Amino acid sequence: MKEKIEKLLQEAAEIHAEKMEQLEELRIKFMGRKGILQEMFQDFKNVPAEQKREVGVLLNQLKDKLQERLESLKQSLESEELPSDKTNDLTIPVRFDELGSRHPLSIVRSQICDIFSRIGYTVAEGPEIEDDWHLFSALNFAPDHPARDMQDTFFIETAPDILLRTHTSSVQIRMMEHTKPPIRMIFPGRVYRNEVISARAHCQFHQVEGLYIDKKVSFADLKQSLLYFTKEMFGSETKIRLRPSYFPFTEPSAEMDISCNICGGVGCNICKGSGWVEILGCGMVDPNVLSNCGIDPDEYSGFAFGMGIERIAMLKYQTNDIRLYFENDVRFLREFEAAL
Ligand code: PHE
Repeated sequence: MKEKIEKLLQEAAEIHAEKMEQLEELRIKFMGRKGILQEMFQDFKNVPAEQKREVGVLLNQLKDKLQERLESLKQSLESEELPSDKTNDLTIPVRFDELGSRHPLSIVRSQICDIFSRIGYTVAEGPEIEDDWHLFSALNFAPDHPARDMQDTFFIETAPDILLRTHTSSVQIRMMEHTKPPIRMIFPGRVYRNEVISARAHCQFHQVEGLYIDKKVSFADLKQSLLYFTKEMFGSETKIRLRPSYFPFTEPSAEMDISCNICGGVGCNICKGSGWVEILGCGMVDPNVLSNCGIDPDEYSGFAFGMGIERIAMLKYQTNDIRLYFENDVRFLREFEAAL
């Protein structure tokens, strides 16, 4: 046994490999599960007791030697695989790293944020998992009022107070609770509704909410701000139209249409022949909402608006199926590479 180990120790010092595969074969031969070393350790059991110490030391030496030799061969083969003179060779073709592009929704979202930041709005975000107070009660939705059904809420059966937010208006409440007016902010984010997925609706989409609270804010301020936004987003010829509407948290409330940017207002299948397309909901913040957030409605007034990012993107890029924005089909996404 002793001689055998000594012979192997010599052999180990001379191990040589030219290629990685060869080295791997050697590793298996010497150190593998059924390799020579393993076999030696098996045989060690039969070594007479008085020789065990001496043979044991030798055997461990062999193991260390083999490990060391195989490791140093590995290192030198690795460095040979990328010889330094080659790395300096400028004629070698570069490895092509494919670049992605920004998602169209993220492009439109930052365009919206940029447009409003130019007139003094700052951007903030709130949680997607909300409680009833911020999503409904503080926004003046009466308990059991059918308006809560307006938004096809996902309720969590075991925790009825916890909801996936159906609109970004909840972030208005969070901001008003903690900020002293004047407040001039926009809140972009994802929202969820229990909708059947179709070309026009999805169970998740994105909104941008706007909020402006100060002394003597009027409906005229709201209209002018939205007109500014529309012209920046869709071009200076675009017109707006406000129609009376209802939201529990604004009074008066309105829905805003823009002149159809596809047919220029003459009438087409996108605007269903009317020349107008709806893009957002808005209104003067209801005095009850201000009080719920600790803001005195006799001193302050304000407006709010909320729009769907997909809707703006669909009009801007003339896409007619909302599902395209969630499928991540690269053929669709690539069309926005130039829009970076
Ligand atoms: N939260 C409303 C919606 O999701 C939009 C809205 C926001 C309306 C702010 C008025 C004011 O439909």
